[in-house]
Amino acid sequence: MKFLVINGPNLNLLGLREPDIYGKQDYAALCDLVRQTCAAEGIEVALFQSNHEGAIVDAIQGAYGKMDGIVINPAAYTHTSIAILDALKAVGLPAVEVHISDVSQREDFRQVSYAGRACIKTYMGLGFEGYRQAILYLKDYLAK
Ligand code: DQA
Repeated sequence: MKFLVINGPNLNLLGLREPDIYGKQDYAALCDLVRQTCAAEGIEVALFQSNHEGAIVDAIQGAYGKMDGIVINPAAYTHTSIAILDALKAVGLPAVEVHISDVSQREDFRQVSYAGRACIKTYMGLGFEGYRQAILYLKDYLAK
């Protein structure tokens, strides 16, 4: 089983960025957690982070035929990007949406998730643990 884990804009600044909301651990720590979780589950994983919408679209398209599933935190593009939604729909791979913070309890403009419409499940407000849950959920989903 092969998963692509995608992180969108500003998630490279985890640790520095609004630690009260996103925590004190950095992006490298998140990558470690994802790699360790996948290794323990026998899953091959590729990690991708970009601050650019088109690069994220390219990564989703590139997963077609190579990956079995996608875990995605589109960050701010969650709330704006129809292009990312369309890319997820185009490749048709099962995708799980993750948000570190509980977006449901935040500003009005965060209440829409375009990408979420193409995802089989969303985890929010669990911190980095949401990524672990997403990987386990996707593995179970694909095993069925
Ligand atoms: C986020 C929530 C988004 O609203 C925000 O723009 C982010 C991070 C999260 O992980 O909680 O950049 O996706």
